[in-house]
Amino acid sequence: MRSVADTSVPKEANMIAKIEENVSMVRQGKATVLVGSQWGDEGKGRITDMLAENADVVARFSGGPNAGHTVIVGDEKYELHLIPSGILHPEKQNIIGNGTVVYPPAIVKELEGLKNRGIQTHNLFLSENAHVIMPYHLQLDRLEEERKGDDSIGTTKKGIGPTYTDKVARRGIRIGDMLDLAFFTEKVDENLAYANAYIQHNFPEEPLLTTNDIVEEYKPLIEVLRPHVADTSLMLDQARKEGKVILFEGAQGTLLDLDHGTYPFVTSSNPTAGAVCTGCGFGPAHIDEVIGIIKAYTTRVGHGPFPTELEDETGEQLRQKGHEFGVTTQRARRCGWFDIPIMKFAIRVNGLTQLALTKLDVLTGFETIKVCTHYEVNGERIEHLPTNGKLLKDAVPVYKDVPGWTEDLTDVRTFDDLPKAARDYVLMLEEIAEIPISIVSVGPKRVQAVLRTP
Ligand code: IMP
Repeated sequence: MRSVADTSVPKEANMIAKIEENVSMVRQGKATVLVGSQWGDEGKGRITDMLAENADVVARFSGGPNAGHTVIVGDEKYELHLIPSGILHPEKQNIIGNGTVVYPPAIVKELEGLKNRGIQTHNLFLSENAHVIMPYHLQLDRLEEERKGDDSIGTTKKGIGPTYTDKVARRGIRIGDMLDLAFFTEKVDENLAYANAYIQHNFPEEPLLTTNDIVEEYKPLIEVLRPHVADTSLMLDQARKEGKVILFEGAQGTLLDLDHGTYPFVTSSNPTAGAVCTGCGFGPAHIDEVIGIIKAYTTRVGHGPFPTELEDETGEQLRQKGHEFGVTTQRARRCGWFDIPIMKFAIRVNGLTQLALTKLDVLTGFETIKVCTHYEVNGERIEHLPTNGKLLKDAVPVYKDVPGWTEDLTDVRTFDDLPKAARDYVLMLEEIAEIPISIVSVGPKRVQAVLRTP
């Protein structure tokens, strides 16, 4: 079986080796958490892939196939939804924790896709306590969104909300439940009766699923997943005791958090750092570093407030230059300027110890770059991100103009080689953040990063 690095041309292989050597410059403890600091799509996958170099274990702790990570190695592009980015490193353990939700057809497709490209997958472990997304969850997600019309959340329609709803209602089906077919069939029967009664009452035109259809569809998938099912909390504990380096890979972003995000325009789980503990069965005292991934500007998919959104040509320029189209849904992302209150909010609720600033190269060519320093709400100055939806909707961003640069950054590999205006942009954000910006990414490839000593 070939390793992913073999796909690179020699020059690039050398550069990868250099980056891999330098990755040790990034302060990583034994357990490091990576979280999105905005509304998702900050480039977590490529940063995880880079830091996974030093890790023995990579674990997902929340969300499901609503996430989409693109990792580019050499000329190969990998789009991962649920499987951790560490899968591209054959010697690492990859864990999908109990806090996630798993759609068997999608994860099996992802596994097959990797196998077909020569990537080993024996190193994937799936928590027996993760919840299973069932076909009626997808149906319910779609129907609820359609019913809400203009007030819809703009979900990924992957069944995330309904699956977590069943989990909280204590009737959900867990991965471990699928392993005994008779028990699984019984649970599907029970749950489907519940879902169908609701669908029939509210959406009488909608065709109903049967237990048999679902069990027949899932039966072969269960066999593919069976060897991967494990007690992943126990595995993580063993890894910790053996002194292994563990990387927790967040999905979505801080502002999509069910509790801390722009409710109700959020996802149905907690993508913030605290969820590592509940979503993996890993104690908080064992976490050493929390790195927030933050884009050099802001994007959002789906509906809900977005104070610095640019609904003009500049927004379109950011979208085109940054290829801001969803990996999971292909939807065009809404784009806007960098928002300092959001950065400070992410630092606070996640307890960030470092930042990774991504896509700085996309800002090349803007004569002036705007940065939101605070908001005005009804004429009053507000420094922090209001979590009250109405206040945030009415918040008017107040900007500071900073000089842009014209140089292409995609080949820059050291901080000193960045144009002065780009360096100043990073240093300005770092001073406000009061935590180091230890990684600056300047392109989608593994090598396209500037690493800084904290
Ligand atoms: P859900 O997670 O599919 O229920 O969608 C809820 C909200 O979260 C919607 O606004 C989605 O667009 C957004 N969302 C979910 N996953 C991601 C992601 O990985 N990146 C960006 N937005 C996401």
